[in-house]
Amino acid sequence: MKIFAANWKMYKSPQETREFFAQLLLPAQSQLVLVFPPALCVESAIESTKGTQIKIGVQNISSKSEGALTGENSASVAMSMGCEYALVGHSERRSLFAESDSVLNQKVKFAQDIGMRCVFCIGETLEQRKSGQTFEVLKNQLQLGLKDVKSEKLIIAYEPVWAIGTGLTATPQQAQETQSQVVTWLNENGFSGAPVLYGGSVKPDNAKELIQQKSISGFLIGGASLNPESFAQICQS
Ligand code: 13P
Repeated sequence: MKIFAANWKMYKSPQETREFFAQLLLPAQSQLVLVFPPALCVESAIESTKGTQIKIGVQNISSKSEGALTGENSASVAMSMGCEYALVGHSERRSLFAESDSVLNQKVKFAQDIGMRCVFCIGETLEQRKSGQTFEVLKNQLQLGLKDVKSEKLIIAYEPVWAIGTGLTATPQQAQETQSQVVTWLNENGFSGAPVLYGGSVKPDNAKELIQQKSISGFLIGGASLNPESFAQICQS
């Protein structure tokens, strides 16, 4: 089953969230559709998608259930509201919010302890790709981020940093080549069967060719997921 995940980042209000779902027409196929709205829109997203195939997740979680942690999102509370999924390790969290591999590891473990399913993101910068370090970087992120993590329910998202929001997409061959190395690592390290999504400037016009690649189990989509038509087109690919 292919997975289509929308990461809205810090876009949309509760009202815009309701409008999006009112306009979204998904193909009646068996696929897993996930939407990660901003935390302030989670409640309206859950209300708008009741009784549909769409699952709602949070873009960031704390590794603690509660505490003196101003501004953080409790995964336990998100779960109780109906969020079954969390994004962990997005490159924007790693670079703009200085989330280290060990912090991310604690987040994944905490989410798993309470039964939440994580989409764990990895990716290399352009500099790292140009200097031939891509797989070393990804392997390091996987090794540290998934230390002592259970394989059940885990989803990986490969998002080359240079392809995020830039309009530059990894070619289907580049994505396939890198993701097959990730799949091999997962198989050899007790995570066989974990789906690996591709993210980075996925659009309706490049989705078809990318989704045909053997090691791509679905997409994590930013910009193109904000529009109900383009998101639905990608889900049809
Ligand atoms: P874009 O699809 O806008 O490049 O964003 C990708 C992304 O970061 C999804 O998490």
